[in-house]
Amino acid sequence: MALPDPIVCERYVPRRDAAELAALFRASIATLAVSRYDAAQRAAWVSSADDLASFDARLSRGVTLVARRGGAAVAFAQLAPVDHIEMLYVAPEWSRRGVGGALIAQLEQLARASKASVLSVDASALARPVFERAGFSLIAAQAVFRDGVSLPRFHLCKPLRAANLSG
Ligand SMILES: CC(C)(COP(=O)(O)OP(=O)(O)OC[C@H]1O[C@@H](n2cnc3c(N)ncnc32)[C@H](O)[C@@H]1OP(=O)(O)O)[C@@H](O)C(=O)NCCC(=O)NCCS
Repeated sequence: MALPDPIVCERYVPRRDAAELAALFRASIATLAVSRYDAAQRAAWVSSADDLASFDARLSRGVTLVARRGGAAVAFAQLAPVDHIEMLYVAPEWSRRGVGGALIAQLEQLARASKASVLSVDASALARPVFERAGFSLIAAQAVFRDGVSLPRFHLCKPLRAANLSG
């Protein structure tokens, strides 16, 4: 699955990109998560970008891809470590156009190139069907607590290599 034209993918540039991606992160949750997460849950979720320095440190881990159109970020996704998708956020005006699915495919390619045998994610209720469409299977429904608020999420995995049955 390719990114829609004319979106290009770049690597995250620490410090330079932090504020732009924090704004995208907030807008994505504030708008797209409304259908599945209430106001308290969304507030707890976005609060992880309040401290820009720690958000920048978080984005600097592993590989963070930034999808851009005309220089402006429209989505980002992170592989950290090489067998785990840690973040996936799409700008509201770009949702439901295949950007999320295309970034999952790019991270999967990177995981395969790093010889990961399985790729996992703790997905939101919104992202779960996008990962299932990309071949991930549900392992467990979970809840993560942020600021004393419970947020439902779903642990999914996708095997990347056939098991070696030859013994
Ligand atoms: C989940 C997310 C990354 C999907 O990005 P996307 O570019 O819209 O994904 P795709 O276009 O590849 O796939 C679209 C699918 O995502 C889901 N989706 C996207 N926006 C949605 C919304 N507002 N409400 C419910 N489901 C939504 C649907 O399953 C949709 O499929 P459909 O259009 O056939 O119903 C995006 O909605 C987002 O950033 N959400 C807020 C933050 C979030 O939940 N991040 C995931 C953390 S693991």
